[in-house]
Order: sequence, then C-alpha cells, then structure tokens
Amino acid sequence: MQIRSAEFLRGVARSGDLPDDGLPQIAFAGRSNVGKSSLINCLTGRRALARTSNTPGRTQEINFFLINGAFHFVDLPGFGFAKVPLRVREKWGRLIEAYLRRAEELRAVVFLLDARHGPQPNDLELLNWLLAVEVPFIPVLTKADKLPKTKIAQALRSLREKAPILAACEPITFSAKTRLGRQTLLDRIGAYVS
Ligand code: GTP
Ligand code: MG
Repeated sequence: MQIRSAEFLRGVARSGDLPDDGLPQIAFAGRSNVGKSSLINCLTGRRALARTSNTPGRTQEINFFLINGAFHFVDLPGFGFAKVPLRVREKWGRLIEAYLRRAEELRAVVFLLDARHGPQPNDLELLNWLLAVEVPFIPVLTKADKLPKTKIAQALRSLREKAPILAACEPITFSAKTRLGRQTLLDRIGAYVS
C-alpha cells in the first residue's frame, strides 16, 4: 500500500465526540513514549502530522487522521507512564476503553513495543484489554535503530516467551528513524483496509 494523502481530522478527549462516519480504522497502541506518533509520521511521510515529544504523555487525546480519503489512523494516548498523574491516566483509560468498545470499524491494532525491552507488565495489561475486543494485531518492535541485530533476535525471543499471542502475529521490526519495516507495515495495514 502507498499513502497518497494524510490529514489530521480531530482530537477527541471525550467519548461522546468519537467520529461515526463508518470508515475503516487502524489504531496505534502502546506505552507512552514508545513511538506511536513517530511511526504514524514515518508511515505518512509527514514529519509533524502527529505530535511527537521526548516527554512521555504527549498525546493526550485520541487523534484521528484521514488517510487516502478512505480510512482512519487512530493515534491512541500512550499509557502506563508513571510521570503522568493518576487522574489523567484514569481518564485516558476510560477514553481508550470507550473507543475500543464502540469502534465497530476497527480493523486492526498496530501494537508497538520497544525493541530494547521485552514486553513490560503494562504492555501485557494493554494486550488483555485488546484481546477482549477480538481485533487482529500487527505487533511492531520499534526503535530498532537503537540496538544491534543480535539484540533484536533477543527481543523477539522475549516476545515469544512473555506474549506468545503477539509473537504469533508476525512481529515487524521497525524504526521511524531509518524507516526499517515501513513498507512491510504499510502492506500489512493495506490488507485490512482494502
Ligand atoms: P505518547 O504520545 O506520549 O504516548 O508517545 P508516543 O508513543 O507517541 O511516542 P513519540 O512518537 O512521541 O516518540 C517518543 C520519543 O521517541 C521521541 O523522542 C521520538 O523521537 C523517539 N522515537 C520514536 N520512534 C523512534 C525510532 O524508531 N527510533 C529512535 N531512535 N527514536 C524514536
Ligand atoms: Mg504520541
């Protein structure tokens, strides 16, 4: 798949404002700071379409992007970061939960994990939520540029041990910096939205 156009549609902070236009959706989920917004920018070829930051908790709303005029990318707020106040984390949790419950057009979730660390308890918590929604996963091990190839094999092993469900879904090794895995991921996404 190629991305021909990408535009920011809206940021949603309350479940009542979720769009309801019937278009297919691909969501991007993962811990805060794992690189969801950077990955969306890399896929769309737009440096600053989704706001990225060194400060975890940058994305505080569910951001919807219209891709090729035909489907949505959904940038979920990252969760599980201790520096974000509990009250805010709880609010995001409820918002994400409401989104997942209602997203009838959600075709797949791109599940981002940091290639440098094995799955963390928060990752497994998110996995359990998503399993309840019965949506296909596309696991992505991101920030792969930050570690040598031997360590990537180690990360895949850790995924097989701790999250066999994700490991079984053909994880993609990815880097927003070098664009490693970009076309593979686009093609996997394309299969769900065509
Ligand atoms: P939240 O919105 O807080 O949930 O974060 P996020 O998951 O959207 O992460 P974001 O894309 O903002 O990236 C967090 C930090 O990681 C930024 O400093 C990015 O530049 C960096 N980063 C993201 N992806 C990569 C990557 O593939 N390689 C490297 N080296 N850095 C990356
Ligand atoms: Mg973000």
